Amino acid sequence: MTTNSDSSVVDLSNDASFAEGFPHNSFNWLRDNAPVFWHEPTTVTPDGEGFWVISRYSDVTAIQRDPIRFSSDKAGDRTGGGTGIKDERSAGVALNMTDDPLHRRLRSLVNKGFTPKAVQELEAGLTKLIGELLDSVADQDSFDFVKKVAREVPLQTICNVLGVPLDKRDQLIEWVDLGLASTSSSILDKEYMIKIRNEAKTIIADKRLNPAKDILSTIVQAEFEEDGTKLNDHELLSFFTLLFPAGAETTRSALGGTIKAFIDFPEQFQLLKDDPSLMRSAVEEIIRWTTPSIYKRRTATEDIILQGETIKLGDKVTFWEMSANRDERFFDKPFEFDITRWPNKHAGLGAGVHFCLGASLARLEISATLNELIKRFDGFELVGDPVWMPNNRLLGLRQMNIRTLSQS
Ligand code: HEM
Repeated sequence: MTTNSDSSVVDLSNDASFAEGFPHNSFNWLRDNAPVFWHEPTTVTPDGEGFWVISRYSDVTAIQRDPIRFSSDKAGDRTGGGTGIKDERSAGVALNMTDDPLHRRLRSLVNKGFTPKAVQELEAGLTKLIGELLDSVADQDSFDFVKKVAREVPLQTICNVLGVPLDKRDQLIEWVDLGLASTSSSILDKEYMIKIRNEAKTIIADKRLNPAKDILSTIVQAEFEEDGTKLNDHELLSFFTLLFPAGAETTRSALGGTIKAFIDFPEQFQLLKDDPSLMRSAVEEIIRWTTPSIYKRRTATEDIILQGETIKLGDKVTFWEMSANRDERFFDKPFEFDITRWPNKHAGLGAGVHFCLGASLARLEISATLNELIKRFDGFELVGDPVWMPNNRLLGLRQMNIRTLSQS
C-alpha cells in the first residue's frame, strides 16, 4: 500500500495545499503510481482519521455510479458520514448526503421544481442581470471579475430559484458569503447557518401560504407519487441551505475560471466569437477545465478490492473529479483548454443518482454569461495576480482583477 510517507503527495486535508490552485503535480503522480492511495491522517485531518484517495477517471466515475457500495450517508458503525472528509452528524438529512430509498423520495420531489421549462424561464432574467453587471463596470479601467460578475450571477439566480424577496437578498447573500468564507470545518459556518435557516423558515412559511411562480414554491407543493407525502419543514430547510454552497460557489468558480482560461488561451475566446455555435462544447469544456467541485467523499458499505487495494467497510473514500478530468488515460491532451472538445464526458457534474440537480441551470448561467462577453469584448488581461480561495472543497478564484480588451 502506498501512503504519504513514501510519496510526494501534499497533505490533501490541509486547505493550505490549495492556496496556489489545485495541486496537479501530486495528482499526476497519484494517477501514475498509486491510483488507490491511503492518505494517512495529519495534524489537521478532520476526525484524525486517514482516507482513500481515488484519482483515475475510470475509478472515479465507477464510484459515482455505485451508491450501493459507496454511501453518501453513513456506513459501518460510524455516527457521521456525508460527502466531505469530515464526518457530518447531519448526514442522512440533506439530499446530497442520503442514500436510497430516502434519496429517491427527496430527489423526485425537488426534480418537480427543476424542470427544463422552469429553468428555461430564468434565461431572460439572467441575460438582463449579466448585461447590467457588465454595464456597471464598462467605464472602469480594471475591475474584480469575481466580485462584480462571477459572485453575483449564481447568488442572484439561487435567490430567484428560491423566490427570495428582493428586500431580503443583500442580507441573505452577505450571510452566505461570510458563512462560506469562514475557516469553520463545516461548509457553512454555524453562526451564519443559524441566521440563514431563520430567514429560510420565514420564506418557506410564506411559500406555503402564498405559492408564487418560483421553483421553491413548486417544490413546497410537490407530492411524492408513491404515498402523496410532501417535504416537511426540516427537509425544505436542508434543501434551502444546500443550494447556496451547491449552486452558488460552484458556478462562481466556473465563471471566474472561464475568464482565466480565456486569458491563458486567448485564441479560444476568438474561436467562440467567430463561431458561437461552439457554445455547447465550450460550456462542457469550461466545466471540465474548472471542475469547481474538486472532490467528494463516500463511505464503503462493505470490503471492496479496487486496483489491488482493500478498502474496508466504514472507510472514508474520497474521489477527485479534478484529477479524473485531467486523466490522460481518458482525455486527449487533458491540460489543453479546447472549446471544440467533443464528446466531453467529464466527471465535473457527477454521475448516477447524485448527478447535479442544477446541471441545466449551471450550463445556462455559463452560456448566458459567455453570450454577453462575446458580444461586448475581444479579450481580457490580468491586472495583478489572481487570488485563490485556499480550500480543498470549494477551490476557486476569490479575486481576479482584469481589464477587458476591445478593438473598436
Ligand atoms: C458549474 C456548476 C456546478 C458544478 C460543477 C456542480 C457539481 C456537482 C456535482 C459534482 C454533484 C454531485 C455530488 C456527489 O456526487 O455527491 C452535484 C450535485 C448537486 N448539485 Fe451541482 N454543481 C453545479 C451547479 C449547481 C447548481 C446551479 C445547483 C442548484 C441550483 C446545484 C445543485 C446541486 C444539488 C442539489 C446536488 C445534489 C444532488 C443529489 O445528491 O441528488 N448544482 N453538483
